[in-house]
Amino acid sequence: MGALEGRVAIITGAGRGIGREHALLFASEGAKVVVNDVGGALDGAASDATPAEEVVAEIRATGGEAIASHDNVVDWEGGARLVQTALDAYGDLHVLVNNAGILRDRVLVNLSEDDWDAVVAVHLKGHFVTMRHAAAYWRARAKAGDAVRASIINTSSTSGLLGNIGQSNYGAAKAGIAALTVIAAEELGRYGVRVNAIAPAARTRMTESTPGLADEVVKPADAATFDAWDPANISPLVAVLAMEDCPATGRVFFTMGGTVRLFQNWTMTTTLAREERWDVGELAAQLPTLWA
Ligand SMILES: NC(=O)c1ccc[n+]([C@@H]2O[C@H](COP(=O)([O-])OP(=O)(O)OC[C@H]3O[C@@H](n4cnc5c(N)ncnc54)[C@H](O)[C@@H]3O)[C@@H](O)[C@H]2O)c1
Repeated sequence: MGALEGRVAIITGAGRGIGREHALLFASEGAKVVVNDVGGALDGAASDATPAEEVVAEIRATGGEAIASHDNVVDWEGGARLVQTALDAYGDLHVLVNNAGILRDRVLVNLSEDDWDAVVAVHLKGHFVTMRHAAAYWRARAKAGDAVRASIINTSSTSGLLGNIGQSNYGAAKAGIAALTVIAAEELGRYGVRVNAIAPAARTRMTESTPGLADEVVKPADAATFDAWDPANISPLVAVLAMEDCPATGRVFFTMGGTVRLFQNWTMTTTLAREERWDVGELAAQLPTLWA
């Protein structure tokens, strides 16, 4: 029996890259998968139904169960339709994997308002919209007395958690997704919903187009060498987080190749304290001791 037998999962951005690998693994582990993708260009332009349909065809060809969705995760009504697609097709929803994303890299001084809005919308609002509609369904189930054992897996990035030049729009959205994950885990636990996030690193059109990374992510010429950048390496962790009995919640994990690492959430470290208000000059002199 597969690790996800009987689980109904929505995976956003599952027509290509990392999301496609999640969909294929989930289906091979017995999940019924809603393969969501607008089929857009890397910068979010245009749309094409083909990528989602192709992944569904691939899953069905191997005897798995899947259905396509072309809803845009930024769209409020689209998010509601996406959840309804799972309920109409399979009668329930257990897992939401938020993975859809776009990239518009520019240094801050060259970033346009549109570059900022588009990237923050797809990542941060796109995570919120789907979570909001799925969470409303799970809360209603929990209030009706059903034993909900649901899981949300979000997609953050080291670009936000550690910072990366040229990605202030993307990084800010990805750090926001980590914060959204921690808060949602605290709020939704009472309804039986666990919420975690991953920060992956893999070869996709995103990394293949990133200056400095493109040379690193190449597939090894020798088939016997472990392909550490293969996007399929990311999916086992997501499958584990989606399992009914996984205990993890409120966690953010880095994963690449055969490595899984736990991130520490933002935490306070060194302290300057006294029992009176600081004088500006004195505080200016003391402040650097915090990171010395
Ligand atoms: N590749 C990496 O190393 C890496 C690193 C850190 C984070 N990530 C994150 O992993 C996720 C997957 O990225 P990828 O590298 O596989 O990129 P990708 O471009 O191959 O796949 C992203 C998919 O999302 C879809 N999509 C975009 N906007 C959408 C929308 N509004 N609604 C529905 N679908 C939409 C695209 O059509 C595309 O098929 C993204 O969230 C990305 O930010 C990737």
